[in-house]
Amino acid sequence: PTKIAVFASGSGSNFQAIQEAIERGELNVKVELVVTDKPGAFVVTRAENFSIPVLALSPKEFATKADYETAIIEALRKYDVEWIVLAGYMRLISEVLLTAFPQRIVNIHPSLLPAFPGKDAIGQAMEHGVKITGVTVHFVDEGMDTGPIIAQAAVSVVDGDREATETAIHKEEHVLYTKALQQLLK
Ligand code: GAR
Repeated sequence: PTKIAVFASGSGSNFQAIQEAIERGELNVKVELVVTDKPGAFVVTRAENFSIPVLALSPKEFATKADYETAIIEALRKYDVEWIVLAGYMRLISEVLLTAFPQRIVNIHPSLLPAFPGKDAIGQAMEHGVKITGVTVHFVDEGMDTGPIIAQAAVSVVDGDREATETAIHKEEHVLYTKALQQLLK
C-alpha cells in the first residue's frame, strides 16, 4: 500500500472516512501518521481509536514556520511517508514542505473552487446566496486553495439552513476524497 500521512486541525471526519475505506478494502493505502497543529483536536482521539501514531506539534513552539515544517518532515521520513493528504488542516503549506513532497500533497476544500477559497467556505457560499456549491479535491501549491483540480462534486445548498448544508457537504467529501485518492494512488 501507498504510505500516507493525514494532516488535520479539527474533527477529523475526513480522516475517519479514509481510514474506514481502507479497512473496507476500497483504498490500497496505509495511514502511517496523523499530523495535527492542534494537540487538543478531536482527530487525535479518532487516530488513537485506530491505533495510528499522531504527531501533534504547536507551530508557536517553533521560531519559524520553516522550523515547524522541518520537524514534521523528519517524522514523515521516519515513517517513509510518500503522500500527504490534508483533511481540514487549516494552515498554508510553505515551500519547505512543498519542496520535500513535490506533487505529492493533496487537499479537500468545501466549495467548487475557485469560488470561496480560504476559511468558512460554506458560510461564504450561503452569504453569497449560491444555490449550488460543492467539494473540490486539488493538488496543493503555495497559494490558498489554488492548486490544480483533481476532482469536484456539486452539492445543493439547503436554503437558509447552514447545518443541513454542512452535513450534505461533509457527506459528499467523505465519498469524493476516497474516490479521488483511489484514482490517484493506485
Ligand atoms: C472539511 O469540510 C474540509 O473540507 C475543510 O475543513 C473541514 C474539516 O472537517 N477544509 C477547509 O476548509 C480547507 N480550506 P473534518 O475535520 O471533519 O474532516
